[in-house]
Amino acid sequence: MLDERAPICFNRQVAEGFYRLRLEAPRIATQAEPGQFASLRVSDQLVPLLRIPLSFCAVDKQAGTIDLLYETRGPKSRLLSQAQPQQTLSCLGPLGRGFVPPAPGQRVVLVGGGIGLPPLLFMGARLRQQGHEEVVLLAGARSAAKHLPSGELQAAAPQVRLATDDGSLGHGGLVTELLAEELEAGSGSMVCACGPQGMMAAAAGLCRRREVSCQVSLEEYMACGFGVCVGCVVETASGEGYGRYQRICVEGPVFDALQVRWEEG
Ligand SMILES: Cc1cc2nc3c(=O)[nH]c(=O)nc-3n(C[C@H](O)[C@H](O)[C@H](O)COP(=O)(O)OP(=O)(O)OC[C@H]3O[C@@H](n4cnc5c(N)ncnc54)[C@H](O)[C@@H]3O)c2cc1C
Ligand code: FES
Repeated sequence: MLDERAPICFNRQVAEGFYRLRLEAPRIATQAEPGQFASLRVSDQLVPLLRIPLSFCAVDKQAGTIDLLYETRGPKSRLLSQAQPQQTLSCLGPLGRGFVPPAPGQRVVLVGGGIGLPPLLFMGARLRQQGHEEVVLLAGARSAAKHLPSGELQAAAPQVRLATDDGSLGHGGLVTELLAEELEAGSGSMVCACGPQGMMAAAAGLCRRREVSCQVSLEEYMACGFGVCVGCVVETASGEGYGRYQRICVEGPVFDALQVRWEEG
């Protein structure tokens, strides 16, 4: 884990309530892998005390920059949206474990709901850089205004399919309905999912029934972000007593979906 004082290159709104932040953090950029995250102090004041964990959305090793994409939800993200270029932020990273890469030529289906897209955009862009073109991105949002610009999505995958809850863009319905279609259409896929808990549980269930490998990037409130407070645990499907809990910030945030004990729903 590295700790950099990172100057802001830009911090701009890209969709309704969504911001893209670019930081100059050359040492972190060299090491960051898709699925890993950074932890930012959004203010030099005492409050808010905790850092905000955000997944890497894009990394440019040559330029020494990292991009983060976030939704304004509460105090930390709202303060962050007011940060200006030339300001510097304390940035810890890269943290956690990222996605396991696919086998050569294996078809990859990336499924993102809401603000679950950032790690998938990085995963897709990295695969394309490596010449892996068998990638489909399925992106779900509440409405058209909540979708990222199409250029941002297409950088991650040659094929992009959109869904909206209100039917204002793409498929009217759940993004997991698109996943079900994709799994019907192609065999031997690997799925990577990130989004609301219910969406990931549904994706995990679809993949389990079709014996398709599925990795999920989980979220939980985090205090330290690097394994000390044990405040971010997830219950796994194996192990006894406390042994069945794993820390999302160290053993995750990416887990094999079969490892996770999903709530019945
Ligand atoms: C590993 C990891 C990666 C993340 N990557 C991103 C990212 O790339 N982009 C992004 O926008 N957000 C991401 N998040 C979530 C983000 O860290 C939280 O939304 C943020 O901490 C909210 O802080 P806040 O003070 O603005 O809002 P808070 O006041 O802390 O929260 C506002 C509301 O958001 C919800 N919320 C907050 N944190 C979480 C959480 N961890 N899980 C589920 N619901 C939550 C709650 O309903 C809460 O009422 C990530 C979280 C983790 C753990
Ligand atoms: S946030 Fe402290 S152990 Fe994970």
